Amino acid sequence: MTWALLPAAGSGRRFGGEVPKQYLHAAGKPLIEHALDTLLSHPAIDGVVVALAAGDPLWPGWTSLHGKPIVTCIGGGERADSVFAALQALPDGVADDELLLVHDAARPNLCAGDIDNLVDVANACADGAILAAPVRDTLKRADEEVRIVATESRANLWRALTPQAFRRGVLRRALERAKVDGVIVTDEAMAVERLGLHPALVEGREDNLKVTTPADLALAEFLLARTK
Ligand code: C5P
Repeated sequence: MTWALLPAAGSGRRFGGEVPKQYLHAAGKPLIEHALDTLLSHPAIDGVVVALAAGDPLWPGWTSLHGKPIVTCIGGGERADSVFAALQALPDGVADDELLLVHDAARPNLCAGDIDNLVDVANACADGAILAAPVRDTLKRADEEVRIVATESRANLWRALTPQAFRRGVLRRALERAKVDGVIVTDEAMAVERLGLHPALVEGREDNLKVTTPADLALAEFLLARTK
């Protein structure tokens, strides 16, 4: 059994505005609905746990989609707290050695082929796997005055995307360890790496964008209108 965890408890502070970004509309529906639709229409995924902000007034109350269950829980102050809450809310039948896919609610343009590739690699790699994209731009390091002090090599550098796929037991141990150590992890792989493990990188599509700014929303609108 493979479940997905969808952290959706963020306030979208960087985006600005009243509505948390996962509820902004693109191509006729909220970003979170695009993410749920892609995950639950994929044959490898059996259900989704969504972590919501306490008292979220915008959650439409879905309990299933495409005939598969949607379970909700209350997320936490940091993304990792929300993912941990979702982990705890999984049904008992999901064993410690089963794969979980963690995906941002604000990434509406995930394609089924990337899920196929990720699941294949993660099934073969005990440390898990993540979708990622090679860094293509030249990287500059800045000083306090925002002047360039160095050009960094981009060789072997990748941008971490989602979904990120790990076995339930590994993800739980990783998030517990980060919490005990007081380290705020910005993705699940970072927590897993801190256990000394080496998740695989699976090259994913560059258009699996996370909506963070109004310009991203316009791009998501364009991409989704073409594909959905
Ligand atoms: O803020 P950021 O873009 O990193 O958020 C990525 C995802 O994590 C979003 O779907 C957001 O709703 C979620 N999140 C969460 N709980 C938090 C912070 C972010 O579920 N405390």
